[in-house]
Amino acid sequence: MTKVKIVFASITGNDEDIAYVLTEKFEDLGCDVDMSEVSQTDAADFEDADICIIASYTYDQGIVPDEALDFYDDMQDLDLSEKVYGVCGSGDTFYEDFCRAVDEFAKAFEEVGAKSGAEPVKVELDPEQDDIDKLDNFAEKIYKKAQEMDL
Ligand SMILES: Cc1cc2nc3c(=O)[nH]c(=O)nc-3n(C[C@H](O)[C@H](O)[C@H](O)COP(=O)(O)O)c2cc1C
Repeated sequence: MTKVKIVFASITGNDEDIAYVLTEKFEDLGCDVDMSEVSQTDAADFEDADICIIASYTYDQGIVPDEALDFYDDMQDLDLSEKVYGVCGSGDTFYEDFCRAVDEFAKAFEEVGAKSGAEPVKVELDPEQDDIDKLDNFAEKIYKKAQEMDL
């Protein structure tokens, strides 16, 4: 069974909602899914998964949310070359750097060899139906990529 690890960073719940949408979709696809909050998660957990997902909000200070910094640093010591990754998150287009943390996490995955399964999904504040459709499509693409890699 394909193993999926979903890690989220969320203050007001939007990214937690995104993580729930993805959990449900991957479960529908028949995957074994584990979801957890970033400050409660060891980055090395990604090594036990086939598919690695991060859903993170962005604040206009720091590269990634403060409570995700240790996780972000620890990611750089992993070898994720046999993994498929996907990044997504909620932001607010009011800010200049819309969803910057999503791109930073994508870079971190690329640096440790993980393979992108789908283009990042960036959500304006809380996920609405069209965002949910995009997230479902995102999960399907990532799952397909994992199958192609025989994971
Ligand atoms: C102080 C502050 C700074 C923020 N800075 C950014 C930003 O630079 N870029 C962005 O896209 N969103 C920014 N946001 C918006 C949040 O990312 C957005 O509200 C998001 O939905 C929060 O996600 P959460 O509900 O998972 O905590 C900021 C919000 C606050 C309160």
